[in-house]
Amino acid sequence: MKKLLSMLLALVLSLGLVACSNGGTAPEGNEGGEESSAEETTNEGGETYDVGVAIYQFNDNFMTLYRNEIESYFGSLNDGNTYNLKFVDGKNDMAEQSNQIDSFITEGMDVIILNLVQTSSADAIIDKIVAAGIPLVLINREPLGEDGDESYKGILDNPTVCYVGADARQSGTYQGEIVAELPDKGDINGDGKVSYVMIEGDPENVDAQYRTEYSIKALTDAGIEVEELDDQVGNWDQTKGQEIAANALSQYGDKVEVIFCNNDAMALGAAAAITAAGRKVGEDIYLLGVDALDECVEMVNNGTMTGTVLNDHIGQSHTAVDVAVKALKGEAIDNYYWVDYVKVTKN
Ligand code: BGC
Repeated sequence: MKKLLSMLLALVLSLGLVACSNGGTAPEGNEGGEESSAEETTNEGGETYDVGVAIYQFNDNFMTLYRNEIESYFGSLNDGNTYNLKFVDGKNDMAEQSNQIDSFITEGMDVIILNLVQTSSADAIIDKIVAAGIPLVLINREPLGEDGDESYKGILDNPTVCYVGADARQSGTYQGEIVAELPDKGDINGDGKVSYVMIEGDPENVDAQYRTEYSIKALTDAGIEVEELDDQVGNWDQTKGQEIAANALSQYGDKVEVIFCNNDAMALGAAAAITAAGRKVGEDIYLLGVDALDECVEMVNNGTMTGTVLNDHIGQSHTAVDVAVKALKGEAIDNYYWVDYVKVTKN
C-alpha cells in the first residue's frame, strides 16, 4: 500500500512538473504561417483570461515588431492575472482571417486584438465579435466612417469596440516637412520644382492614402512646386519597393529628386535600387520612409536615407494591451486612442 501511495505521489509530482514546464512559445520572426500561443506567468489568486490576437500578416517588418511587443508587454504586466495569448497570421487573406475570428469566438476568447486584413470587411467582423459579447481592440488599420474620418459607426455605436493607432496624416506631413526643411527644399537640379516618385503601401489602407496625400501637401503648403513623375503601389513590400524604384530611376534618370515611400520596408528596397543606379542619397537624390525600423534609423544617421518617421509600435502595442485589460475588467473604454508619430532626421 505504502509503495502504491509513493508511486502515485511520484506520478502526481511528475505530471505537475510537465504542466509547469509547458510554458508556451513566443511569436518570433517574420516567416509567418504558424499560429502561436504563449502562456504568461501565473500568479496565485488572479483571473485567467484568453486573449486572441489576429494580425493581418506575420510577414511584415513593422507588424512583427508590434506583435512581439504585444507579447512581451503582456508578459511584463505582473498584475496577478494570467493572460493566455493566441496569435494568428491572417496571411493577408480576409477569408482566412474571418475564419480565425470565428475560431476565436468558438474558443471563447475574453478579448480580441485585431489588425484587419481589409478595413472594408470591418462591419461584418465587428458585428460577429460584438454579438458574441467579446470586447474588441482594433489596431493599425483604421476603418473610416462615411465622411472618411473618425465617424465610423462600428466603433462609435459599440462601447466595447475601439481603435488604437496613429494618425497617418501626421506621418505624411512629417515626410514632406523633412524635404521642405532641406537647404535646397528638395529641388536638387534647381529647376524650380521638386520632381518625385511615390511608392505606396496597400491602397485600401488609410495609412497609405494619407501618407501619399499629406507628404505632398506639406510641400505645396510650404509654397514648393511639385511634379509627380511616378506613383506606384508597392503594397508595403521591400522587393516591390526595389522594383518600382529601379524602373522609375531607369525611366526618369536624373529627373528623380525625391523618392517618397509609404513605409521603411519599401524604402529599404528603394535604397538598394538607388545604389544600383549609381545615385547617392543626400547628393543627387533624397529618400524618405515611415516606421523608423532600426536599420533605417541607422541609414538616416549615416546619410543613406534622408529621413523617416517613427511609427511608435511600442506606444501603440502598450496602449492596445492596456485598453484590452481595461475592457477585460469591464471598465469603460474610449472610442479612439492615438499615439504620436515622431520625425527622424540626422542628429
Ligand atoms: C506601417 C507599415 C505596415 C502597415 C501594415 C503601417 O502603419 O507603417 O510598415 O506595413 O502598417 O498595415
